[in-house]
Amino acid sequence: MSYTPLSTGIHVDSSRRLWAMVTAQSTYAFGVTNDGLLMHLHWGPRLVSLADLPSAILKPERSSQEPALSQATEEYPPFGGLRYGETAAKVTFADGTRELDLRFATAEVTERDGLPALIVTLRDAAYPLTVQLCYKVDVENDLIIRSATFASEANETLRIERAFSAVWHLPRQYAPRTLTTLAGQWLGETRLQQRPLVAGTALIESRRGITGATANPWFAIESTFETTTETYFGALAWSGNWVIRATTDIMGTTAVAGGIHEHDFTWLLQSGESFTTPEFVAGFAQDGLNGARRRLHHYTREQVLPKPQVLQPRPVLYNSWEATFFDVTEEGQRKLAERAARLGVELFVVDDGWFPARVNDHAGLGDWRPDPVKFPHGLKPLSEYVKSLGMQFGLWVEPEMVNADSDLYRAHPDWIYHFPRRPRSEARNQLVLNMARTDVQAYLIEVLDKLVAENGIDFLKWDMNRPISEPGWSDEIERGGEAREIWVRHALGVYAVMDALRASHPDLVIESCSSGGSRADLGILRRTDQIWTSDNTHPEARLFIQEGFSLVFPARVMVAWVTDQGRGLLPVAYRCHVSMLGTLGIGGNLVHWSDAEMDEVANWIAIYKEIRPLVQDGDQYWLLSPHATHGEVAAVEYVTAEEAVVFAFRRADLFGELLPRLRLLKLQPEANYRIEVLGQNDSASYAASGAALMSYGLSLPLKRGPFASCIVRLRKQ
Ligand code: DGJ
Repeated sequence: MSYTPLSTGIHVDSSRRLWAMVTAQSTYAFGVTNDGLLMHLHWGPRLVSLADLPSAILKPERSSQEPALSQATEEYPPFGGLRYGETAAKVTFADGTRELDLRFATAEVTERDGLPALIVTLRDAAYPLTVQLCYKVDVENDLIIRSATFASEANETLRIERAFSAVWHLPRQYAPRTLTTLAGQWLGETRLQQRPLVAGTALIESRRGITGATANPWFAIESTFETTTETYFGALAWSGNWVIRATTDIMGTTAVAGGIHEHDFTWLLQSGESFTTPEFVAGFAQDGLNGARRRLHHYTREQVLPKPQVLQPRPVLYNSWEATFFDVTEEGQRKLAERAARLGVELFVVDDGWFPARVNDHAGLGDWRPDPVKFPHGLKPLSEYVKSLGMQFGLWVEPEMVNADSDLYRAHPDWIYHFPRRPRSEARNQLVLNMARTDVQAYLIEVLDKLVAENGIDFLKWDMNRPISEPGWSDEIERGGEAREIWVRHALGVYAVMDALRASHPDLVIESCSSGGSRADLGILRRTDQIWTSDNTHPEARLFIQEGFSLVFPARVMVAWVTDQGRGLLPVAYRCHVSMLGTLGIGGNLVHWSDAEMDEVANWIAIYKEIRPLVQDGDQYWLLSPHATHGEVAAVEYVTAEEAVVFAFRRADLFGELLPRLRLLKLQPEANYRIEVLGQNDSASYAASGAALMSYGLSLPLKRGPFASCIVRLRKQ
């Protein structure tokens, strides 16, 4: 047999009905059995030839308790027949049949969103229902992006009760695997969790109607063979209820299934309609979590984040929240703006508290117009003043919410989720607008459009401070609809309002916020440019949160403010350096900052602007992990073909010991780098080769004492 090396792209073996998606370093393949079942064949290292793949077969049952279908690695296993493992889909037909029997119909190699794509159509054996599986291939980043579309030609309405985006099969193996997830809560999001995968199911989810902080819809599964660490990883692009389950059987077979949560989910599918799941992107890396991170960052920048904003550096921002809370006044904001401009801030954002009755969190949400008491002449004079200081102007909003004490709620009490005979649960004194309603969407589009247009707003911080409860929608039930759709329709409603706003204001930048980082996912990032990472702005806590956050999202997305948290206790440099790891912001009460503090922070902002392209868009490697060292040390390298910058942090200096040299990654071995410690006037620059820096390592110029940090810049000579 002669081997023709497979090029990257999508390959078809028509005679064996087999498909392989070949990326730079991986292959993903499946085939069709004689009975028309779509069977997974391989996901892992890049294959040389299609001939290396077996034909798809349904292996015989192991025993009557382990039927063949139950052990099969189907690409999109439906609930039906002798299947007892993970299933991707469940449908109830009008006649009461609650099973699917999906068989292969067609496959087409095409292009979607500028990427090679494979569309496989499965058809139910007895009912006029198709499920189209879409596989987009990101060749350079070793990623497969999956989604599924249900379409019905039946005369009756059918009920979709589960519609996952994908089931990912990992090959069986003896080597133990470790599952990494990101868990958290308010003030402590995206913290790394690691556990061995043993027989059983590990589950992460949100049933709150938003992405949530309890877990982020991302996973990584690693195993080490000799010297390589193989990592399978994925992220779900969805901002509503979601679930990801990793199920391992006693033989070491692992399947990861995920998508919209089936909890309280039903979608009515009428004849001629279709329903498409969110995308689930996953990849294979042989360079561990750092490799997984790099691939997702590239993908997010290249395929997810809105253009043209993604092509511009994210500006240094100031946000007033921690400085003033609800005590917003025009005079106070002007003072802060003047101080912010002196620091070199480029975008000034007025947070919560600018609209009527908003003196605390009991009233005002929903009435998106300037408070006539706080802003007698509206927001325009402040916006113009901010611009005259050379900054852009941004504003906080929370469009999905109302307080009961608001004009909007008084006018439209039926616009919130509720059950007619149940109390309407408040959280932070607020209720959630039914974003599934098109009249609510239209109202928000009109109000926000006016707000942005009339006040010269360049930036919106879009907040969402409570989960959904009492998910009822009686009008829809009266129309014969299904209120359980709200879990999906809420997220789609938010997307629709954002899309409309962006369409009429193409330069508008939106920051996704949900009590900090409760809405951080690749779905919201299709229409927002950055994410407020956490309300916890203490630098020590931030290192943990930011390490986890960085596993999914690139630095340009991760907003990090220097606030008054840790002020007076931690060195100014340490506080600035932690925030310089992402999109830098300032959030302290600048009126109280001394001239010396102002000058020092201004200096770090100037340095940040110099290295910003590298930080925001370079490849990012966490060389020392706060998670692994319980916060003792951290080191992050950002690198491009031309240069690199390394940040290092050491919490305590109990024993007066130097840190080991840091071996850098991805430099050019033959190149000579000029090395300079930023912000330290007393340090001389020196040179070393990329090879030396990657093998012998870089000595870290950390000063003695607690909370030491440094930034080292390396430029190719
Ligand atoms: C929660 C956000 O995370 C904070 O930054 C701030 O915007 C408050 N909401 C305002 O209510």
